[in-house]
Amino acid sequence: MKLLVTGGAGYIGGVVAAQLLDAGHEVVVLDDLSTGHADSVPEGARLVRGTLREAAFDVLDGGNFDAVLHFAARSLVGESVEKPGLYWDSNLGESLALLDAMRRAGVDRIVFSSTAATYGEPESTPILETDPTRPTNPYGATKLAIDTALAEYARLHGIGGVSLRYFNVAGALLDGRRVQGERHTVETHLIPNVLKVALGERESVKVFGEDYPTPDGTCVRDYIHVVDLGAAHLLALDACEPGVHQIFNLGNGNGFSVREVIEVCREVTGHPIPAEPHPRRPGDPAVLVASSEKIRSQLGWKPERDLRAMVADAWEFARRAR
Ligand SMILES: NC(=O)c1ccc[n+]([C@@H]2O[C@H](COP(=O)([O-])OP(=O)(O)OC[C@H]3O[C@@H](n4cnc5c(N)ncnc54)[C@H](O)[C@@H]3O)[C@@H](O)[C@H]2O)c1
Repeated sequence: MKLLVTGGAGYIGGVVAAQLLDAGHEVVVLDDLSTGHADSVPEGARLVRGTLREAAFDVLDGGNFDAVLHFAARSLVGESVEKPGLYWDSNLGESLALLDAMRRAGVDRIVFSSTAATYGEPESTPILETDPTRPTNPYGATKLAIDTALAEYARLHGIGGVSLRYFNVAGALLDGRRVQGERHTVETHLIPNVLKVALGERESVKVFGEDYPTPDGTCVRDYIHVVDLGAAHLLALDACEPGVHQIFNLGNGNGFSVREVIEVCREVTGHPIPAEPHPRRPGDPAVLVASSEKIRSQLGWKPERDLRAMVADAWEFARRAR
């Protein structure tokens, strides 16, 4: 298939673009490099630099594309609280421009990077796709609005859309020829930040809250290896059905506490990684774990890599990227 990958110069888009190329697809990346890197676009893909608003129609029109994989977004929760307008414009506005460009160019399939942040504070765990969506920050709200727009474009314009609601993505793609991983300039994710201590870039890791109602008192989150996540995109692409919008959670279905993650990082790196207790951060739920039953039963997806593999691959990538 000929595929447009928005945000393919970023962490996840770069990994999935590489997997799509290896599966025999033709890939064009559209990215404005606001948080991505031109050298993260995998060899074999063509990079078009620009925003979705500026360039999506020019790229799609007459290009004979079969589908779009839409990763491009701003995704820093704290920044979204400071600058909600930027997030609504950049995430929802640019996504609507993309959807309209797809319609005009006659491209009717899209796989979208949605997020666990659409659910907000969960009422029960593990989180099901049918659970209430009450995002607690503008980032999650913009992603939920894009899910809603996809449902409307499916119903009213016949687009086939799949929203994959990712939980915490980690790890790297290291298959010899392809080396793709996480290189965020502003890093908010736990595993790369813990590994920065082992790399000597930080003194210690901050643990926000040790008095949660969890077995060791620290927050519990669901982690998914980026390579397993990519495999789900290939399945989702095949599952796009004109006129239908589908939502699937994408996590392991297992939770790990902050302390457990730090312990695995210590084992993998052999570094003591000092941890420093801090008060809870406002708005951090105690437990966020996905039910991945729907994607397992309907698309036959199964995660194959455990937390140790995520940490080991992220560690290998971080050392190579230095
Ligand atoms: N990393 C995670 O754990 C996680 C979890 C849930 C959801 N997600 C979602 O997955 C997607 C990818 O996340 P990531 O961690 O790879 O982020 P990233 O910042 O590494 O990648 C995003 C890419 O999109 C590009 N981009 C942003 N806005 C653009 C625009 N308007 N036009 C063109 N290009 C634009 C950036 O330059 C960057 O290359 C995002 O949509 C994010 O919300 C990520």
